[in-house]
Amino acid sequence: MRVLPTLWLAATALATNFNQPVLWEDLADLDIFRVNDTFYYSASTMHYSPGAPILHSYDLVNWEFIGHSVPNLDWGNIYNLDGGQAYVKGIWASTLRYRKSNGMWYWIGCIQFSKTYVFTSPSATGPWTQSGVINTCYYDCSLLIDDDDTMYVAYGGTQISVAQLSSDGLSQVKTQQVFSSSFSIEGSRFYKRNGQYYILNDQPANAEYVLKSSSPWGPYTQKQLLNNIATPISGGGIPHQGGIVDTPNGDWYYMAFVDSYPGGRVPVLAPITWGSDGFPVITTVNGGWGTSYPYPLTPHTLSSPTGKDTFQGTSLGSQWEWNHNPDPNYYSVNNGLTLKTAKVTNDLYAARNTLTHRILGPQSYATIQLTINNMKPGDRSGLAMLRDSSAYVAVINNSGTLRVSMVQGLTMDSNWNTASTGNEVAGVNLPSGTSTIWLRASADIHPGSGRTAVFYYSTDGTTFHSIGSSYVLNNAWNFFMGYRYAIFNYATSSLGGSVVVNSFDMESGSP
Ligand SMILES: *[C@@H]1O[C@H](CO)[C@@H](O)[C@H](O)[C@H]1NC(C)=O
Ligand SMILES: *[C@@H]1O[C@H](CO)[C@@H](O)[C@H](O)[C@H]1NC(C)=O
Repeated sequence: MRVLPTLWLAATALATNFNQPVLWEDLADLDIFRVNDTFYYSASTMHYSPGAPILHSYDLVNWEFIGHSVPNLDWGNIYNLDGGQAYVKGIWASTLRYRKSNGMWYWIGCIQFSKTYVFTSPSATGPWTQSGVINTCYYDCSLLIDDDDTMYVAYGGTQISVAQLSSDGLSQVKTQQVFSSSFSIEGSRFYKRNGQYYILNDQPANAEYVLKSSSPWGPYTQKQLLNNIATPISGGGIPHQGGIVDTPNGDWYYMAFVDSYPGGRVPVLAPITWGSDGFPVITTVNGGWGTSYPYPLTPHTLSSPTGKDTFQGTSLGSQWEWNHNPDPNYYSVNNGLTLKTAKVTNDLYAARNTLTHRILGPQSYATIQLTINNMKPGDRSGLAMLRDSSAYVAVINNSGTLRVSMVQGLTMDSNWNTASTGNEVAGVNLPSGTSTIWLRASADIHPGSGRTAVFYYSTDGTTFHSIGSSYVLNNAWNFFMGYRYAIFNYATSSLGGSVVVNSFDMESGSP
């Protein structure tokens, strides 16, 4: 009977520690806060639509997608891939908060260094509507709703400003510069604790600073929270831009992101304490950011990021985002996802209605099952590793002959215009009459260079054949968004064809 306590202790230790990152998915520019016992997380999405996903959690470690603050990117035709493209434009660091006095949720973000948009909703899960436009760009902004219900926004790069909003939160009453940093800072996150106002900022991409004042208008004093701290993700960047939150028990945590290309930017969590000077201090492990810490609260698991989506119901789950705004006339969800070709083009980057899914790291693979008997000559439908350098496996109706093709070498120039539409590396003709096919992409997104993706196809869903060569993933940061799995169907000749995506199955590890 002596073995029992040992086993119990081992099980308890396993169950009460979490590992970094808390969720290995590209969820950059995080803004976290708590309402009662629920934590919320908002992230940047740039050219993906809907934008600014919302996740919730009950323990700060297990997170689940519940919606998006921006239902459609209504900032011009380029967001529809019409007359150009909006790659890397759109939603950058923005902010989400709940306002107790009127039960409304507010999302605020500046688009293309120009205007700031305010979206509101009676519930985190929507419906979200654009309620206000402010003619000042609140670059990298953060909303603070003060104890007296006044709404303030901290924003800016290096010159940090605070704006006061009107009582409905939809327009600006005044704005004022409150701090000028002697070095480059951005990524504001605005809080109040024990009567003191705090603005967190990062110095990209290796440090975080805190401004503190007894008034929202300053004067603020600046102190370093971390600089070049050892990263908890091997090969990844240094945790920097992020935010803080307290638990119902009064414990505080700092969540930052780690540059982890080719996969994007992933969230890591660490406890903080408060020094006698009123500034926060990170709890380190051997001087670095811990690869593991005790769970903040009793673990509360939510739906798994892995598993099979069979597109039940009539709308997509909140984990899905389109590459630019979709054209709703060319897709439908109903026990499967029907993708009608929505554009005639030879360029995947210009095709409309490409549906994307974040890649689960450090290694995962995605399999789609497609019904292909309504493809028209010239149509291409498949599964891509999508970024500014891309590759894919697709079914092509080659004037009547169905062919599975692996294509790589799709590239963009530094303005994110298409530089190359890629070349077939390998192709196989399918037996005539093939009506169902499985396509698979397997991705290693451990941070670093030389990571690869491998593509596969199957005609029975059991035996998968690899096709083409391993595709080397681009790990430059400049595109900001990491690789995604992307499901597409576009026409090269004429519209009218369609495919049905019966399922998307993402599993961790390699096949
Ligand atoms: C938070 O809890 C209070 C008290 O139980 C409740 O009235 C309120 O609706 C809750 N707020 C939200 C957003 O769930
Ligand atoms: C492909 O194109 C040919 C005409 O070239 C057509 O007859 C056929 O139905 C198309 N679709 C499939 C799945 O073969």
